[in-house]
Amino acid sequence: MWISEAKHLQGKLHTFPSLWQALAIPKRFQGKSLNDYEDNENVVSSLKKAIEENKSIFLSGGCGSGKTHLAIGLIYYWLEKFLVLRTEPSYMEESERIVPDWNKTGGVPKFVVSPELFMQLKSTFGERSEESESTIIEKYSRAPLLVLDDIGSEKVTDWSRMDLYILINKRYNAMLPTIVTSNYGRSWISENIDDRLSSRLSEMGLVINLKSTDRRVR
Ligand SMILES: Nc1ncnc2c1ncn2[C@@H]1O[C@H](COP(=O)(O)OP(=O)(O)OP(=O)(O)O)[C@@H](O)[C@H]1O
Ligand SMILES: [Mg+2]
Repeated sequence: MWISEAKHLQGKLHTFPSLWQALAIPKRFQGKSLNDYEDNENVVSSLKKAIEENKSIFLSGGCGSGKTHLAIGLIYYWLEKFLVLRTEPSYMEESERIVPDWNKTGGVPKFVVSPELFMQLKSTFGERSEESESTIIEKYSRAPLLVLDDIGSEKVTDWSRMDLYILINKRYNAMLPTIVTSNYGRSWISENIDDRLSSRLSEMGLVINLKSTDRRVR
């Protein structure tokens, strides 16, 4: 058993089911990566550069414009750059030989859809809940990379505004990269969620508005 970097697995990581599980990749997006993202070569290369430079990304665009696909592809790209593997003996299948050393990456990257995050947070309100609201925020604020998919699709309340701000602000202060996607642009977020959230999203790194039309209805 030895330690190696994941660079030699470039373009392959998205095919390993053990990683889908570890990263909580939704079934529809399992197996998708930047390799099968068509058009917008410039967009993909600037996104890759942002990941290499440890920058955050705000991806906005209409339904079906490919935000979730790109965000998941970028998790694998991040893993190609930063993952360290313990490699098992070579008689085993390649996919079984991949044992990530998550201590070396500062934990597991996390993917969460915004309304689900708020459901998780709400579920802590009951007296019998094992986790507290702050433990959940802490868990997502510490992940070495966080994809927060579809912000603005949750029911926006003063409480959700505050939790979102706390989470993003913690990651902003800790300089940890976050990929945020939304159907809405920054001005909607300023007006309907929080000015400070919108300004942090811009300041944290790259802002991209995907112009492509809905792929689901072709
Ligand atoms: N440029 C692209 N190349 C290849 N497949 C794409 C591209 N854009 C979108 N798709 C595919 O189209 C479908 C819809 O994309 P996706 O779910 O990423 O859109 P979205 O922007 O997240 O939409 P929503 O706002 O509704 O969540 C997915 O199956 C995705 O893989
Ligand atoms: Mg989506």
